[in-house]
Amino acid sequence: MKQEELWKLLGEMTLEEKAGQLIQLDGRLILGRGDRQTGPETENRPDLLPGSVLNFDSAEMARELQSRHLSEDRLKIPLLLMLDVIHGHRTTYPIPLAMGCSFDEGLMEECGKMAAREAAACGVHVTFAPMMDTARDPRWGRIMETCSEDPLVNGRMGAALVRGMQGEDLRAGDRVACCVKHFAAYGAGEAGRDYNRVDLPENTLREQYLPAYRACLEAGARMVMTSFNTLNGVPAVASTFLRRVLREEWGFDGVIISDYNAIGELMNHGVAEDEDDCACLAMGAECDVDMMSLVYARLPDLVRSGKIPEAALDAAVMRVLRLKQELGLFENPWHGADPETEKRVYLCEAHRETARRAAEESAVLLKNEGILPLPGNPGKVALIGPFATDAHLNGAWSRPGAEEDTVTLPEGIRQVMPGVELRTARGCSAEWNVDPSGIAEAVELARQSDWVILTLGEAEWLSGEGRSRTELSFPGAQMQLFREILAVNPRTVVVLFHGRPLVLTEISRTAPAILDMWFPGQQAGPAMARLLWGHANPCGKLSVSLPWTLGQVPLSHNRLNTGRPKPQPDTGVFPFTSSYLDAPNLPLYSFGNGLSYTEFVYESLETDREVFSDTEGLTVRIRVRNAGERPGKEVVQLYVRDLVARVARPVQQILDYRKILLQPGETQEVVFRVEEKQLRFWDAEGNFLSESGDFEFSTGWADHLLHTKRVQMTKREAV
Ligand code: BGC
Repeated sequence: MKQEELWKLLGEMTLEEKAGQLIQLDGRLILGRGDRQTGPETENRPDLLPGSVLNFDSAEMARELQSRHLSEDRLKIPLLLMLDVIHGHRTTYPIPLAMGCSFDEGLMEECGKMAAREAAACGVHVTFAPMMDTARDPRWGRIMETCSEDPLVNGRMGAALVRGMQGEDLRAGDRVACCVKHFAAYGAGEAGRDYNRVDLPENTLREQYLPAYRACLEAGARMVMTSFNTLNGVPAVASTFLRRVLREEWGFDGVIISDYNAIGELMNHGVAEDEDDCACLAMGAECDVDMMSLVYARLPDLVRSGKIPEAALDAAVMRVLRLKQELGLFENPWHGADPETEKRVYLCEAHRETARRAAEESAVLLKNEGILPLPGNPGKVALIGPFATDAHLNGAWSRPGAEEDTVTLPEGIRQVMPGVELRTARGCSAEWNVDPSGIAEAVELARQSDWVILTLGEAEWLSGEGRSRTELSFPGAQMQLFREILAVNPRTVVVLFHGRPLVLTEISRTAPAILDMWFPGQQAGPAMARLLWGHANPCGKLSVSLPWTLGQVPLSHNRLNTGRPKPQPDTGVFPFTSSYLDAPNLPLYSFGNGLSYTEFVYESLETDREVFSDTEGLTVRIRVRNAGERPGKEVVQLYVRDLVARVARPVQQILDYRKILLQPGETQEVVFRVEEKQLRFWDAEGNFLSESGDFEFSTGWADHLLHTKRVQMTKREAV
C-alpha cells in the first residue's frame, strides 16, 4: 500500500476506528485463554477492536486472532501482533546480561536472527526488545534484561540484536521489527526497587542512559516503549522532554508505545485526575499506543470535546499504519505465521548449536587456581547443588515450559563426557527455603568423589520484572552447603547460575575455581560440560561489576574521582577520603574481567602521535600475544580518561573493544580509531562537546589498566 492510499484509508476512518488503532489488548484474553498476563489482571473488552495485540502462543493462535480481526474490521486493517522475545523464542539463549559478557556482536546478531525466525513463524510482527536500560544496581531484578552497566557495550549489543532481528526487509516472513525499551532510564530506579522513581541530572542521563537507546534507533529499530518510572518527577509516558529528545533531537518518526498499563497508572503517580486526564497527558507526549490500560478508548470523546486535536490522533494513527505497511501486512496479514514453519524451525539443530555457542561465549571464568579444565579421566565426579538436576536454567523471560527443552547439567556432561562416573545430589534449594536436610547426603557424596562441580546461585524466578531484592546473598542454605562441601573436598569447582550480580566475596576467597554462567538458556548442560573439560575455552568478560558487598551499589567502572579519592595503596593515615571504613571501594570483580585457559600478554599500547587534532583523530594500536598452549579468544579493551575538563570525567571509561581469536604463540595488533566525537561530554550549558587537553589511553580491564599512554588533543576551533 502506498502513502497516498494510507492517507485515503485514514480519511475513511471513524474516530472510534482511529482510537482502536492506538489500543493494544491481550491476545490470550481476546481468545478466552487468559491464563497468563504480564501485568495487572484486566477484563476482556469485546466492545473494542484493537489495532494491536500482545501475548499469544502459537502460529495457530496468531492466525485465529488475525482472521477474527479481519472479519470484524470494516476497513480490513490488519492487526499488529507483538510479543516479548527477549533471549530467544522457542530456543532460548543466555539472558541479555550474559550476552553482554560475550562482547560478541556477531553472535548477538546471529541469536537475534534465529529468535526472529522462530518468533515470526509463531506470528510475531514486532517484539518488545532490545531492552537498553543501563543498570548499575543489582537489587533491581531486571538487571538481567540489560546487556551491560555501560551504555557503549549495551548499545552495541542492542544494535546487533536489532540488525539480526529486522534484517534488510521487514516484509520477509522470517523477520520481526524491534521495539526499544524502556525509554528512559528505567534502570536507575531509586534503591533498586522496581517501578521506583528515577532522579538523574541531565549530564548523567545524556551520557550514561540515553546513548544505548539511540544506538538501537540508529540501527533501525522501528518502535520505542516508554518506561514505567518517573524521570525527575514526570512519568516517562507523559514526558514532553523525552518526546522532544526522541522526535526532535533524534528525528525518530516511528511508533511510541506505553509500557503495560502505564497510561492508566498516571493516576497512581498522582499526575492525572482521571482517565481523560491520563489520555490527554500521554497523547500530549506523543505516546501513540496504549498497552493494556484501555484509557485510549476515551479518545473519540476527547477529540469531540476538543480536548485532543484530531490532528494529533491522526498523526499517531498514521505512524501505526505506516508500521503495518512496512511489515507488508496490508498485502500479507499473516506475515510469517505458519504452523509448519514453526515445526521446522523451532529447536532445529542450527538454533540449538547457536544457543550452545552463545552459552559458552558468555560464561565468565572468574577464578581458576589451576584446577580447570578438568582431566579427561576424572574418576568419580559429583554434581551438587540446587541446579544439579534442575532444568530452570533459562532465565526470567523464557516462555513457560522452556525447561522441557533444556539440556540439564547431567545430560550435558553425559553428552560431552560419555564415560564419566557421575552422581548427583541437590543439597538444598536456591530459593528462600533454608531447609538444610539434604546437605549431609551431598557432603557424603563430595567426600567420596574425586571432583565436585558445585552449582550455586539464585532460583530463576528471583530475577526479572518485579523481583527486586535488598540482599545480594545466595538464598536459602547454599552458603552452608558451600562451606561443608569445600571442607571435605578441595577439588571443588563452583558454577554459578543467576540473573543479577551476587556477592561472591566468601566464595571467591575459598573456592579454587569459579565459572559464572548466569542463566545460559536451554543448552546449559553441554555448554557447561564443554567449558569445564576444556572443549571450549572460556572467553566471557564481565559486562557489569560484581560488588564486594551490597553496600557498594550502585556500582559501575566509570566512576568519578571525587575531590578526595582514596589513596592507592591506602596508608590509612588520612581518614577523610571518599571510602568505606568496612569495605574497599572497588568491586570484587571489575568490569571487563574474565580469565581463559590460555594466557594473554599485553605487550604494548602505542598511538600514532603524541598530539592529535580534533579533525584528524588518533590511532591506537594494542599488541596482544597468546603466551599459553591453547587457542583462545580475548576481548581487547580500550579505556580513556580525560584528565582535565570543566565537567568532571570518569577515572576510566571503555571507549572501544574488539574480540579476537589467537592461536598459541600468535601475536595480533588491534587497531582502534579514536575520533573527537567519542570524547564528548554534556556540559553545564547543555551541549555535547569535547575540550582540548590531555587524555590517557589504556588497555587491560577496569581497575587493572595497562600501558597507559598520555596524548594531547588540540582543537582547530573552539566549539
Ligand atoms: C514490561 C515490558 C514488557 C511488557 C509486555 C511489561 O510489564 O515492563 O518490558 O515488554 O510488560 O509484556
